[in-house]
Amino acid sequence: MDLEKLQEDFIRVFGEGGETSCYFAPGRVNLIGEHTDYNGGHVFPCALTIGAWAVVRPREDRRLCLFSGNFPDQPKREIELDGLTYRKEDDWCNYPKGVLWAFQEAGYRPDHGLDILYQGNLPSSAGLSSSACIEVLTGKILLDQFGWEMDGVRLALLAQKAENRFNGVNCGIMDQFAIAMGKKDHAIFLDTADLSYSYVPISLEGMRLVIACSNKKRGLADSKYNERREECERALMQIQKARDVKSLGELNTEEFEALADRIEDPVQRKRARHAVTENQRTIQAVSALGRNDLELFGRLMNESHISLRDDYEVTGIELDTLVETAWKQPGVLGSRMTGAGFGGCTVSLVREECVETFIREVGKAYLEKIGYAADFYSVSIGDGPQKLS
Ligand code: GLA
Repeated sequence: MDLEKLQEDFIRVFGEGGETSCYFAPGRVNLIGEHTDYNGGHVFPCALTIGAWAVVRPREDRRLCLFSGNFPDQPKREIELDGLTYRKEDDWCNYPKGVLWAFQEAGYRPDHGLDILYQGNLPSSAGLSSSACIEVLTGKILLDQFGWEMDGVRLALLAQKAENRFNGVNCGIMDQFAIAMGKKDHAIFLDTADLSYSYVPISLEGMRLVIACSNKKRGLADSKYNERREECERALMQIQKARDVKSLGELNTEEFEALADRIEDPVQRKRARHAVTENQRTIQAVSALGRNDLELFGRLMNESHISLRDDYEVTGIELDTLVETAWKQPGVLGSRMTGAGFGGCTVSLVREECVETFIREVGKAYLEKIGYAADFYSVSIGDGPQKLS
């Protein structure tokens, strides 16, 4: 990102005067462990070196003035620090507003306003968590500007609260955690049951992580997401009549199969089966990585996709086309959808020398079948939120 240009943009939008500061927060990609984070299971995401930047300057009044270089046609928005409420017309600004609201609820009260210009380079609606990125970035800005102390886990929890309670999206903790706690060249093995975690080094010698963005518009994603959550909750309630468990994540596959017929509705049974098997795959995948068994890691990625396609039903023709074409390419160890699904993107582990052919062939097959192009990004694993000098 060209920070000098960002500063110039800032002055064009907000005018001259006063000292500014710059901040960055990453996007994230989840390597395996999908739709497990609200089922008390494990996830294995990492932060990226792409994300969003912000230029910030204190104001003397009690207003938050927000502008995004990604929506240059929208005017800058002026928001009073007090009495924050969700307003549809505030569009993307509801994310920073939500974070400020969550901070205030937790007793952190700013005594003056801020001018903030945001600029991101995550592909839009790609499922790389641009909303969690803006939330964590805003949290980082508040902490630094007002001299408040908080660890990354608490920052992630407040950002999640902003998403759940202010923006009405019932997401789990994965995205905000992956971003707030990101570490260069490491993925985070997180147990969402108790938020215990460890960093696992990812040395992709001779390999690349390739993200393919389906460019599918994600119309009903939020309502479908909440529907899946509910289906899992219903399934769990029926299992709890036979066994004392707090979440589906507490069961291994055999234990689940022994109880599966307690779940009356076959759809709910399938959803729960995904949550359980995906959690087991994630644990296995991390131990495979520990033994440097990338082949097995890749196979588990593929199985994850199949389970998301058949049991969880969150893939759709676009993601299936990307993944199923990827599986046929030389040098592909594994490929799966990543994030919530219903559009968004896929992540593939590809041998370096095969990346070019991969992008060409998968791109061609996608365009032929779907009628519009996919975008491809070879990504690197980066650090969490930072103040830049
Ligand atoms: C979205 C949510 C996460 C997680 C994933 C699916 O990204 O924000 O909390 O549930 O979907 O794994």
